Amino acid sequence: MRAAEALLEQGQWQAALDLLQAGNREQPLASLQQRIMDLRIRAGRERPQNPPAAALAAVHESPRLVSGEIPEIPAAELSAQRLYDAIHGCGAAIVRGLLAPERAADLRALIDRVVTARRQPDRAPPCEEAAAWYVRSDEVRGAPAQFFASPDEPVSDSSSIWVADSPRVACELLDLYASLGLPELLHTYFGEPARLSVKKWVLRKIAPKPEGDAGWHQDGRFLGEDIQTVNLWLALSDCGGSAPAPGMDLVIDGRREIHPTGTDGAWFDWTVGPERVARVASGCGITQPRFAAGDALFFDHFNLHRTAFEPHHTAVRYAIESWFFAASSAPLKQQPILL
Ligand SMILES: [Fe+2]
Repeated sequence: MRAAEALLEQGQWQAALDLLQAGNREQPLASLQQRIMDLRIRAGRERPQNPPAAALAAVHESPRLVSGEIPEIPAAELSAQRLYDAIHGCGAAIVRGLLAPERAADLRALIDRVVTARRQPDRAPPCEEAAAWYVRSDEVRGAPAQFFASPDEPVSDSSSIWVADSPRVACELLDLYASLGLPELLHTYFGEPARLSVKKWVLRKIAPKPEGDAGWHQDGRFLGEDIQTVNLWLALSDCGGSAPAPGMDLVIDGRREIHPTGTDGAWFDWTVGPERVARVASGCGITQPRFAAGDALFFDHFNLHRTAFEPHHTAVRYAIESWFFAASSAPLKQQPILL
């Protein structure tokens, strides 16, 4: 690890972190995983020195608008251009089988392990020699991630945990994204490197809520508009449509527009009212795709969506939400993380 320390002294964050990450793959160590996350958050605060190259948005013609359905891209054909066309044409893209079902099952187990480490540390210690299951980095600023359930509720209920709070899982996911070629794909998409963030990289368990009504929203309402994003929403459960777990309702719309909130029958000041959603969707439609564990949904901060609760739901939905930002405009409030 001396080589990594030397690179850090020269300010070569990426090269140093590549070495440290490889070291953890070879011999997983809790202390190393924590160090990796500390460094990634610290490096994420630095803005890139070189101006970004032209992003796809600037160099490609507007995509063909396709209405009626969210485009599906075969995993082997996923590219920046296909993703750009789908998101700018219809607001989202679906990639079936991005992960094998067994890999999705492994990730579900990891989420349960982290939830237990967070809520019942006596049953599952937050740290072991080879795994930092739940450790808040000193580099993280602000309040802890919001939990949907109180700490004494059973672990099968809803939970949201920042990935950055589990260096063990963060390292595994970063290796996974690298194996999928996502850093390169997003570099092409943005015209510059991508960042993750502390606040918008989340492990989620959503319990069924038969009478529930989640708010329609656009993440750009919170994140800002003068940014470039791609959210990889990875379904880890069979969900949506007639599946037993909650899915996602999406307006099939690629328009680059943030709608007013708190009006048109909205229950909250941050949600888009149902009457406005109906008007926005009148020309393009609303869909609730069915996902198998391992399917991926990609969209960005203009997408109008909500968690889809239905009376027939009986199962918890597992998912991982990973918002990627173009490095030069990544909102510092979200606490960017170097990929
Ligand atoms: Fe959202």
